[in-house]
Amino acid sequence: MAEKYEEIAVVVDQSSLGNGIYDLTLKTDKIAKAAKAGQFVSVYSNDKSKLLPRPISLCGINRDDDTIRLVYRVTGEGTGTEDFSRLVMGDKVRILGPLGNGFTVQPGKKAFLIGGGIGVPPMLQLARDINAGIVQTPGEEKNPGQAACKGAVCDMNIVMGYRDENTFLLDEFKEQAASFVATEDGSVGTKGNVIDAIKENALEADVIYACGPMPMLRALKAYAAEHDMDCFVSMEERMACGIGACLACVCKTKDKDAHSNVNNKRICKEGPVFDAKEVEL
Ligand code: FAD
Ligand code: FES
Repeated sequence: MAEKYEEIAVVVDQSSLGNGIYDLTLKTDKIAKAAKAGQFVSVYSNDKSKLLPRPISLCGINRDDDTIRLVYRVTGEGTGTEDFSRLVMGDKVRILGPLGNGFTVQPGKKAFLIGGGIGVPPMLQLARDINAGIVQTPGEEKNPGQAACKGAVCDMNIVMGYRDENTFLLDEFKEQAASFVATEDGSVGTKGNVIDAIKENALEADVIYACGPMPMLRALKAYAAEHDMDCFVSMEERMACGIGACLACVCKTKDKDAHSNVNNKRICKEGPVFDAKEVEL
């Protein structure tokens, strides 16, 4: 079982990316070195009336300076994410992580990295790690000290879906690989969704790695089945404990769980990344 750590992280930087999206960098003790793309951290609010932590994916992992980067959307007034948006350099924040399984990359297979909305951020670290060849490959998932897992560098196209012209992280994706955009209103890139962008640009791949809203994941599962592709989806559904104890986050699975004998998996523990064939979306 991979290690997780509870730490008091220190805010190194926080900036607004506009339209309620924030970009937070935290100095960690052990979490950055242990983390891999597709994992998340549970972030506690400094407002003690909010007991449950909020799960936020790792958008960036700097294993040299032990920092992690979280890009998140403020969901409304009085929320945990609004509390996080007020953090400034030097503030301290309690976090638990790295949590979840992260992405497992199929060596040598041409990949689509697909992000939709607030599911875009975790795909950036995956793109960086694929280019650096430090992703976990099949069979390595249960290794502790995961960050050292070495995998194949593979060819990829990045496809991102946003609502409108308020895109974020685009330039950083373009530094990693050919990047394509879809917006619902057509203000940037292809008008429509990520599948419309794939079709319009005649893109092809063997495997999909995706994170985003459920309708997008559902559509990608169907697209992958139609095109005989593998598809791995990261599900960012609501959570409570974040560590597998409360069952607030279960999703329906094709196979029965060996221990409980029910068709359930905990997104926080067995996920958030699943083979789309194994889960009901
Ligand atoms: P709350 O006060 O809890 O709720 C306010 C509003 O937000 C409500 O309308 C509620 O329905 C809605 N809401 C709460 N949780 C979610 C959710 N999971 N999805 C959609 N709507 C929600 N968000 C990011 O911005 N960036 C990330 O990188 C990110 N990564 C995530 C990774 C995982 C594994 C999971 C499970 C979620 C992730 N989320 C991410 C979603 C984030 O955790 C929620 O937006 C956050 O917990 C909301 O907390 P809050 O205190 O702001 O809102
Ligand atoms: Fe408690 Fe997943 S959030 S089991």
